[in-house]
Amino acid sequence: MAKRSVGVVMNGVSGRMGYRQHLVRSILAIRDQGGVELPDGDVIVPEPILLGRSAAKLEPIAQRHGLTRIHTELAAALAEPDAEIYFDAQVTSARKAALLTAIGAGKHVYTEKPTAENLADAQELARAAAAAGVRNGVVMDKLFLPGLRKLERLISGGFFGRILSVRGEFGYWVFEGDWQSAQRPSWNYRAEDGGGITLDMYPHWSYVLEFLFGRVRSVYAQTATHIPTRVDEQGRPYAATADDACYGIFELDGGVVAQLNSSWAVRVFRDELVEFQVDGTEGSAVAGLQRCRVQHRSATPKPVWNPDEPTSERFRDQWQEVPDNTTPAAGFDNGFKVEWEQFFRHVYADEAFPYDLAAGARGVALAELAQESAQKGQRIEVSG
Ligand SMILES: NC(=O)c1ccc[n+]([C@@H]2O[C@H](COP(=O)([O-])OP(=O)(O)OC[C@H]3O[C@@H](n4cnc5c(N)ncnc54)[C@H](O)[C@@H]3O)[C@@H](O)[C@H]2O)c1
Repeated sequence: MAKRSVGVVMNGVSGRMGYRQHLVRSILAIRDQGGVELPDGDVIVPEPILLGRSAAKLEPIAQRHGLTRIHTELAAALAEPDAEIYFDAQVTSARKAALLTAIGAGKHVYTEKPTAENLADAQELARAAAAAGVRNGVVMDKLFLPGLRKLERLISGGFFGRILSVRGEFGYWVFEGDWQSAQRPSWNYRAEDGGGITLDMYPHWSYVLEFLFGRVRSVYAQTATHIPTRVDEQGRPYAATADDACYGIFELDGGVVAQLNSSWAVRVFRDELVEFQVDGTEGSAVAGLQRCRVQHRSATPKPVWNPDEPTSERFRDQWQEVPDNTTPAAGFDNGFKVEWEQFFRHVYADEAFPYDLAAGARGVALAELAQESAQKGQRIEVSG
């Protein structure tokens, strides 16, 4: 068994996602557990190389975690002798140029979503990585959440029979910023700054639908800006120019119909901030981030429509919890970390990894097609 340490250049680690989910909960956690074991018994141990625009922001992070390598120039970070992987969690607008540089330097690349600000750029990235022959991956974290992993287990075990439809509800009330501060940044509500719930969430819906149920073949979407004026971090009112809700209907390969509501202007009467109901001929499931509940055909009640009578059954009580069935007792590991481990096995042991830049580009495409659908008031076919 050989142990090999591998430098991972991490760009954007002062940010929310880069620091917490990728540096601390993934790369440092993998290093601290002794690395990632490959099928032949060899072990890969990632060593972070921090990269950002400001050394002053990176130094306290490095100190806190006993790290020594900090760079403010991409080329210098990529030139570290052990740097084999480049990771990007910068703001989306800064991503394309950095990824192209890393690909040009022959590095394997892994990146946050959306992979680029528009489809042409996202496709250019996928083509560049393919032409250079480097391994590439995109964060598709929702697939690795406990609720969706249990849902995936039901699908692969044939629980549903023929899947008919998927209905998803995502969202919560984001305060306007006047009498209570907003819990999301103001740029999210300005189209000119890359904001909008469609651009934010459709890259996620693309991979959730594709890898659980089938590729998206058409989309019909209606967007809305329900709250036209908000108040920013400095207490100044501003016009919300981006959509804060998107109501979409999708046709998937194999004929499954999906409906997904995404809204920052909805109050939660659900158990989780996102929930998907899947109905199939043999059974149904409701999956959230953590939980997943099922109702089999054999245990399905037979309600009869009668508006004159009060509801006689407690429908929610008739569902059954899907157990975690995980070891160790700790339950499911952090989803970002699980995907990183899979990416390392892809790079160093040739394991399959479908969550690549081409799949990431399909996510950017879906966001653009949904916006086009909303503008034209038409259902749009997805090509390719
Ligand atoms: N997978 C998910 O669920 C998920 C969730 C939130 C955000 N994201 C994505 O992660 C990325 C980062 O989002 P975040 O919420 O961590 O943002 P953030 O604002 O907290 O962090 C952004 C990082 O980029 C750096 N940065 C800011 N402006 C820059 C510029 N002009 N040039 C270069 N670097 C710059 C910042 O210093 C920081 O390190 C975004 O692309 C976002 O779409 C993904």
